[in-house]
Amino acid sequence: MATTLTREQLTADLTNMAQSAPSVDDLMTDIVGRLQQYLPRYHWVGFYMIEKSMMPGVDPVLVLGPYVGAPTEHTRIPLNQGICGAAVTSGNTVVVDDVSSDPRYLACSLETKSEIVVPIRVRGEIVGELDIDSHESAAFGDEDRRFCEFCARLVGEYLERTT
Ligand code: SME
Repeated sequence: MATTLTREQLTADLTNMAQSAPSVDDLMTDIVGRLQQYLPRYHWVGFYMIEKSMMPGVDPVLVLGPYVGAPTEHTRIPLNQGICGAAVTSGNTVVVDDVSSDPRYLACSLETKSEIVVPIRVRGEIVGELDIDSHESAAFGDEDRRFCEFCARLVGEYLERTT
């Protein structure tokens, strides 16, 4: 049987990793790997970070960073598209219990049934997000929301310390 860890165990583990990670990419890679490996309903786990263009008039876009799971065609997402865009523009965690009934949903995998997207803030400004898809409907409850917000905060605080 696959090994699973509790969110409490992962919280302690990831807190230590955030203290010693050599770069934010390493930290994000550790987070996506741990979550996907140890939490059974977390089938696709990835980060999108906001890329701002230097060109005037060119809108910012979400760019896929470290992820684990099936490859996705959605490697660059405009902020006015998808559940990913909605989390940035609303500034809130978005939980969708049934992606097939949400018109904002950009499909990545036919297997995906539910999704959670959590914004990452650095000194109050949203710089990216943590996105998780599950093959189970309504996979993400309040504890998952708190845990995913903790993971997003780890990345935001790391960036606050280092940039
Ligand atoms: N489903 C997302 C797109 C990204 S994939 O889930 C990896 C959305 O609707 O924005």
